Amino acid sequence: MTHPTIKLPTLIAHRGYSAAAPENTLTAVRAAHQAGTTWVELDVQLLGDGTPVIWHDSDVSRCSDGSGLLATMTWPQAQQLDAGSWFGDAFAGEKMASLEAMLALLNELKMGVNLEIKVNKGRDPIALVDTVLPMVLNSLPAERLIISSFDADALSRCRHFAAKETLAIGVLFGSTPKNWRAQCEAVEAFSIHSHWPRLKRTQADAMKRDGYQILCYTPNDPSAFESRWTWGIASAITDEPVAFQRFLDNRRQR
Ligand code: G3P
Ligand code: MG
Repeated sequence: MTHPTIKLPTLIAHRGYSAAAPENTLTAVRAAHQAGTTWVELDVQLLGDGTPVIWHDSDVSRCSDGSGLLATMTWPQAQQLDAGSWFGDAFAGEKMASLEAMLALLNELKMGVNLEIKVNKGRDPIALVDTVLPMVLNSLPAERLIISSFDADALSRCRHFAAKETLAIGVLFGSTPKNWRAQCEAVEAFSIHSHWPRLKRTQADAMKRDGYQILCYTPNDPSAFESRWTWGIASAITDEPVAFQRFLDNRRQR
C-alpha cells in the first residue's frame, strides 16, 4: 500500500501568494498561479452556521474591516466583510472565500493544495473534518492534495474518510515532539510539516529514513533557508514564492 503519486513542488505559496495579495483569498491563489507557483497552502475552518471557509484566524479583525468570531458568524454576515482593504486599496471588495469557491478555482487553475485543517481554540475538529473531507475528496484528485493539521484528532478523522493510497496526510509540528514517529504512524502520514527554525538536522535525517517527505513552513528569507535544501527538504511553504524562485534560479546559474 503506497501513498498517492504526488510530485511535490519546491515552493508552496503560504495562504496563497500572501506577500502580494490578501491571504487565503481567491485573489491570493490567482496571484500565486500568475507567479508560476503550482501549489498553495490554505487554511479551512467553519463559520457558526457550518459553512466551510478559507480563513486562518479565529476572528475576522486582522484580515477584514469587521470584527467577531467565525464561530458566531453566518455566511451572509461573512459576505458583508471586506477582506481585501486591510492589505491594500487595490484589493477593496475582496470577499472571504468559501471552500466551495476555492475548490472550483483550484480545479480551474489545475493547482495543488496543502489544505490545513485549522482547529482554532474551542472549535470542534470532528465537525470540521466531517464537512470538509467529503467536499475535498469529491473535488480534487489525490495527486493535487495534501491534508495537514496540527490537530491529531482532526487527522485521525481524516483517515476514516480515505485510505493511505487515496489521501496524503501531513502532520504539522512546531517543535518536533518526542513521539513524532507515533503521531505520524497513527495517521499513516505522507509528510511532516515542520516549523523550519526549530527542525534539527538529526530529526530531519530520521524522518527521511522513515520515508516521510519534509515540508518546512514558513521561510521567507531564501538565503537564511539555503542550507536546508541540502538536508533533503522537499518543499518550502513560503509567503514569498517569487523571491525564493529568483534566488534558486540565480544559485543554479552561479
Ligand atoms: O501549514 C503551514 C502553516 O500554515 C502552519 O501555520 O499558523 O501559518 O497556519 P499557520
Ligand atoms: Mg496554515
